[in-house]
Amino acid sequence: MATKKITKKSSKERAASIAAVKKNRARILGADSPFAVKESYIQLRTNLLFSVAATETEGGKVFAVTSANPSEGKSTTASNIAVSFAMLGKSTLLIDCDMRKPNVHKLWRIHGNNGMSNLLTGIDNCYVNEVEELPLSIISAGDIPPNPSELLASSKFEDVVTFLRNHFDYIIIDTPPVNQVADAQIIAKNVDGVVLVVSSGKTQLGELAAAQKALDTSAGKICGFILNNVNPKKGGYSYRYGSKYANKYYYSNTEN
Ligand SMILES: Nc1ncnc2c1ncn2[C@@H]1O[C@H](COP(=O)(O)OP(=O)(O)OP(=O)(O)O)[C@@H](O)[C@H]1O
Ligand SMILES: [Mg+2]
Repeated sequence: MATKKITKKSSKERAASIAAVKKNRARILGADSPFAVKESYIQLRTNLLFSVAATETEGGKVFAVTSANPSEGKSTTASNIAVSFAMLGKSTLLIDCDMRKPNVHKLWRIHGNNGMSNLLTGIDNCYVNEVEELPLSIISAGDIPPNPSELLASSKFEDVVTFLRNHFDYIIIDTPPVNQVADAQIIAKNVDGVVLVVSSGKTQLGELAAAQKALDTSAGKICGFILNNVNPKKGGYSYRYGSKYANKYYYSNTEN
């Protein structure tokens, strides 16, 4: 039987990881967020709404957020898009469908288990977490399954998305990197639009092209690109948004 060595974190490592989680949480849109960041997401929300206005799916609109590679800002962006929709007073659901390296529960301080994987497998309950003061609900990824792609490709996933459309105005799905695993491509088939996050100075053009091609192959409709992590002035914080429907929007904020 294989044994796994359990290593204990030193107090210094623990303090560093708590500080990192705190810093990541601070990037979630809230009352204290810089004005320009809030404005950026409001503009992004407007453009996303336009991009799916003509879709004929019944019920709530569903967006997936992905990027070519790991750590390009998918979970942060998905969370903030969800907050921006909820700020409209619309009932919004954020789902963590990154069942390989789930992160949304850490950002939102909710339990990581009893989430989407549990709903899809029928093993154990799935909790819908409610965010205070906003009409925002969150479903975490759940217990990490051995076969995320198979779960997402099952008709059960399709059924769950259809069911949830009838209960929420907007659903935002966080996904793993599209160039690494097939999950985002599979999810893309069941959503109205895919938002592709591009990390400034990190995502290579070839990687972006590969991500776009993978989504096109799976018939996923890319409804916008977000250029994340731009630092026009040192210490800055900005977003650029472009889409097939609304050409180029550029937002920047040096307060972060
Ligand atoms: N605009 C931004 N400016 C500065 N840092 C950012 C920005 N967006 C995200 N980050 C930081 O980058 C790191 C990765 O972000 P996030 O977890 O959202 O990426 P991800 O693409 O979901 O990663 P993974 O592929 O591991 O799921 C986090 O530390 C996050 O706080
Ligand atoms: Mg993530």
